[in-house]
Amino acid sequence: MDLLDTPLLNKGTAFIDEERNLFGLHGLLPPHVETLEEQVARAYEAYARKNDDLDRHIYLRALQDNNEVLFYRLLLDHIEEMTPIVYTPTVGLACQQFTHIYRRPRGMFIGYPQRDCIVQLLRNRPNPNFDVIVVTDGERILGIGDQGVGGLGIPIGKLSLYTLIGGIRPERTLPIVLDVGTNNTQRLNDPEYFGWRHERITGDDYFAFIEQFVDAVKKELPETCLQWEDFANPHARPILECYRDQLLTFNDDIQGTAAVALGAILAAIKVTGKSLKDQQIVIFGAGSAATGVADELRVAMTEEGLTDEEAGSRFWLINSKGVLHSGRKDLNPEQMIYAQPENRIAGWPRTNNGNVGLADVIGQIDATILIGLSTVGGAFSEIVVREMARKIDRPIIFPLSNPTSKSEATAEDLIRWTDGRALVATGSPFAPIDYGRRTIRIAQCNNVYIFPAMGLGVVASRARRVTDSMMLAAARTLAGNSPALKDSSASLLPRLTDLRRVAAEIAVAVGMAAQKDGVAAQLTEDELRARVMATQWTPVYACE
Ligand code: NAI
Repeated sequence: MDLLDTPLLNKGTAFIDEERNLFGLHGLLPPHVETLEEQVARAYEAYARKNDDLDRHIYLRALQDNNEVLFYRLLLDHIEEMTPIVYTPTVGLACQQFTHIYRRPRGMFIGYPQRDCIVQLLRNRPNPNFDVIVVTDGERILGIGDQGVGGLGIPIGKLSLYTLIGGIRPERTLPIVLDVGTNNTQRLNDPEYFGWRHERITGDDYFAFIEQFVDAVKKELPETCLQWEDFANPHARPILECYRDQLLTFNDDIQGTAAVALGAILAAIKVTGKSLKDQQIVIFGAGSAATGVADELRVAMTEEGLTDEEAGSRFWLINSKGVLHSGRKDLNPEQMIYAQPENRIAGWPRTNNGNVGLADVIGQIDATILIGLSTVGGAFSEIVVREMARKIDRPIIFPLSNPTSKSEATAEDLIRWTDGRALVATGSPFAPIDYGRRTIRIAQCNNVYIFPAMGLGVVASRARRVTDSMMLAAARTLAGNSPALKDSSASLLPRLTDLRRVAAEIAVAVGMAAQKDGVAAQLTEDELRARVMATQWTPVYACE
């Protein structure tokens, strides 16, 4: 019975006769021995009978807690249909309903009240060694904010994709939630909420707790990749900056997001046949996502030979007070890097409360790339887009804000206003667009293009740190695998069905970059590729 209750070993009806003899399973299972394919067909039938996405999510999670090989094989065979069910957007609902749909333990809860015994808690971990930890404090879950311990749904879902796409072995993934309380009154008033009923710990106490957690991870799991997930903005960057040189760690919301956007931009630039250093980049929005994307683009430009200053001069970031320039006193250090010299905009028309706004910038410069990270739905107006497209052949336009209602433009409008010339990627999903005789597929910038591959890359190369060059290598390799390079109507980013292959390529590039940065042992590219292939786990039963 223990075997049937252990999801990593359970084969259910697929245990063959010899195994049934050996482990005393006769009588406990129906007599017919099924193949994995037969089990997948049966599981899919059960899945299809569910009434809504949350029920489908609950079904898949239950399957994962019963038979992991079957769960991953089912997911792999239906990857485009099921990825949105195990991960975004459905996982958001699962976090909100976490207490109510809870079945079996998975992952770890580390609470502020237990801060002095985190090492002991970690010693209760379900397996001795792990390749990847995904940790959240549940404060900024997707677009739905503070979910307290319900946030654990995100690390669970995300690690499923590390396995599904990156091939990280399921028994070597550890989801963790840091329970520092919650300010969500709905959760606090829910009699069934099972997190710590306390307002969120903040300030020095919060950072001291994070330090205690990191120290415990360093002690117990020093070689494990620690990925920070869905931390609120005031915590996310300071945590990353503090620990990125101390252990193998990255923040997917900051670095992964930017790498995916960069990958799509580099793919679009390749399609235009121009080089990155010749671009004039307008970013509408100057918040954390915008400066994160700009930072990676700037590093990529300096790798192409520009000085930091030359690269910086090609960016035009605009926030609610207009374009960032040196005369403004309200910029934070991340924004200051992108302040244009005030004299560069002297004499420009000012339409927006005396500020230089988006239309003014587009009117004055020959922008080649326009990115939206502003949360302002419809901000890319027809006038702005037509003006941009008047001056260049293939405008690159990425409205990246989420959800769809906040998208700076619809993909269809962008294609129409530019007579089908725009190269478009979006933050929210858009259906393919029929234009003339073409059906144009729109890429959605989704972090799933990078993080599973990054995990595979650091595990296979045994990297000790995650460096900027490793992120950049991932973005460049993603761009190199763009279907749009071969077919002008294809999406700028690969299909999910191709992602395991692309992830392996990205992993090799990540590993090579790690070696170059001196954070992984030297191997030839062939040796590294062999390691990546050997690391990427595939869901099959042990004795098939
Ligand atoms: P944020 O709140 O830090 O930044 C928003 C920025 O937009 C601020 O600089 C603000 O001043 C500016 N803004 C707001 N109203 C404006 C207006 N009327 N005119 C000009 N600028 C205005 O938010 P964050 O975290 O940077 O995210 C921004 C958006 O990007 C969100 O919708 C988020 O969902 C999306 N996002 C999408 C990603 C993707 O890959 N698709 C990745 C990360 C974020």
